[in-house]
Amino acid sequence: MVIPAHVAIILDGNGRWAKKRGLPRSYGHIKGCANLETIVDDSLEIGIRYLTVYAFSTENWKRSRDEVEGLMKLFRLYLKKCVKICEHNKIRMRVIGDTSVFDADIQEAIRVLEESSKDYDAMFFQIALNYGSRDEIVRGMRRMAEDAANGRIRPDEITEETIDGYLDTAGLPDPDLLIRTSGELRLSNFLMWQLAYSEFYFTDVPWPDFDKAELMKAIEGYNNRERRYGGVKEG
Ligand code: IPE
Ligand code: IPE
Ligand code: MG
Repeated sequence: MVIPAHVAIILDGNGRWAKKRGLPRSYGHIKGCANLETIVDDSLEIGIRYLTVYAFSTENWKRSRDEVEGLMKLFRLYLKKCVKICEHNKIRMRVIGDTSVFDADIQEAIRVLEESSKDYDAMFFQIALNYGSRDEIVRGMRRMAEDAANGRIRPDEITEETIDGYLDTAGLPDPDLLIRTSGELRLSNFLMWQLAYSEFYFTDVPWPDFDKAELMKAIEGYNNRERRYGGVKEG
């Protein structure tokens, strides 16, 4: 079986998972966060080279104050824990999205995490926080326009690779496989440029229940597709 080099996941359904059990949404997020730790381990074991997960969108600030605060608390704990996880497993981590709006201590935790893991190469793990594809393109194109205005690039030299280089995901290959849990059939502003040729896999399983067996199902599904562009399929 071919293991996709880059797997992207929209982690969805924490709230519904909790509601179904009569628990608060915040408990669903705690379970979802614990599941992310497990799936990172599984991905490493399976041999996935790049893993990108969508954990908080630019739209998610519109949720209740309580829920947003709970998520920030969870990110604080998780980002710190990631330093150890990365060290132990030799995983490199990067946070994509506009992190400039987070509290200073969260921004510092991101800086420490990215810096301390930058030489590891067992897997490249990206987590999208305050991420939106349109926002990423706006931020990237502003920087590109500045570089053009300063004479660092010429408009007629701009290629798809140039644009890639201005996105948060710069330097990484596009995802081969996109997974969305919990039944919704939409992208919700995730990696719209990068997913141009990716295979999509949707499952009704909510994120807290999405385990290694479910991940393998998605990879099997991927193996049964005939890809046209964007990836090399062997054997
Ligand atoms: C995904 O679960 C996690 C985040 C977006 C933070 P949701 O919170 O969207 O769960 P549902 O979709 O309401 O069930
Ligand atoms: C998408 O899930 C964003 C993340 C998983 C972080 P949402 O639950 O926020 O998306 P919508 O609202 O269903 O589109
Ligand atoms: Mg949701």
